[in-house]
Amino acid sequence: MASDAVSLFPAPDISSHGARHVAIIMDGNGRWAKKRLLPRVAGHKAGVEAVRRTVRAAHDLGVECLTLYAFSSENWKRPEQEIIDLTGLLKHFIRSDLDEFHERGVRLRIIGDYRAFEPGAVALIEEAQARTRDNRANTLVIALNYGAQDELARAARILAQQAVRGEIDPATIAPGHIATLLDTADLPPLDLLIRTSGEQRLSNFLLWQAAYAELYFTDMLWPDFDKNALMNALANFKARERRYGGL
Ligand code: IPE
Ligand code: IPE
Ligand code: MG
Repeated sequence: MASDAVSLFPAPDISSHGARHVAIIMDGNGRWAKKRLLPRVAGHKAGVEAVRRTVRAAHDLGVECLTLYAFSSENWKRPEQEIIDLTGLLKHFIRSDLDEFHERGVRLRIIGDYRAFEPGAVALIEEAQARTRDNRANTLVIALNYGAQDELARAARILAQQAVRGEIDPATIAPGHIATLLDTADLPPLDLLIRTSGEQRLSNFLLWQAAYAELYFTDMLWPDFDKNALMNALANFKARERRYGGL
């Protein structure tokens, strides 16, 4: 019997899909619940199940970085009870699933201004990020109170401050410089952006990073999303020809 420890989670089946960074606009929880005559919160609960399946699938399929849009900077417009429900589900999800993700070597990262959530949620998020910081198998990025316009405004503010202090010459500001000031600075370039529920818009998600991402829209509602759906999206991505403006 070999003495090598057998990992609970086998090495990822890295197919040749070639997508290092996949982002998903997880939309349609409310409509999923409505179709079943259930309250919206039931759709969000089912949405958490889909998150769990998708994180496992991304890990198994060798996706280096998975970014999930969980709460936009515009979602504060929703009724207070829905925001309370979503925050509660987020806390529950971190408590119930972090051990498994940590075992799998998943690093958790938050983008967006998550400090706007209630203190209990902020503490849990910070603990979870700190605990998984050195994991290297893959990265799960959750966008919380994230808005791309807010992210770009924050970057502009930093550049303006640096210019006022004489640290940079405004004439030398280049795209690469801006990229280092975004929440995604240390993540791989975005390859594939998926949106569920049939809507075909970006809703203020990763506007800068999506410059050359491939877009994939599916009518499937988020709570129905699973490994097979992710594999379909990756197969579709693999068949695309990315030209980046060249020939
Ligand atoms: C996505 O589902 C989840 C969040 C935005 C938090 P929705 O809640 O937007 O579901 P629909 O669009 O109303 O069906
Ligand atoms: C986008 O979905 C935000 C998230 C999935 C977190 P929304 O349901 O908020 O987007 P709109 O309002 O339909 O554009
Ligand atoms: Mg929606």
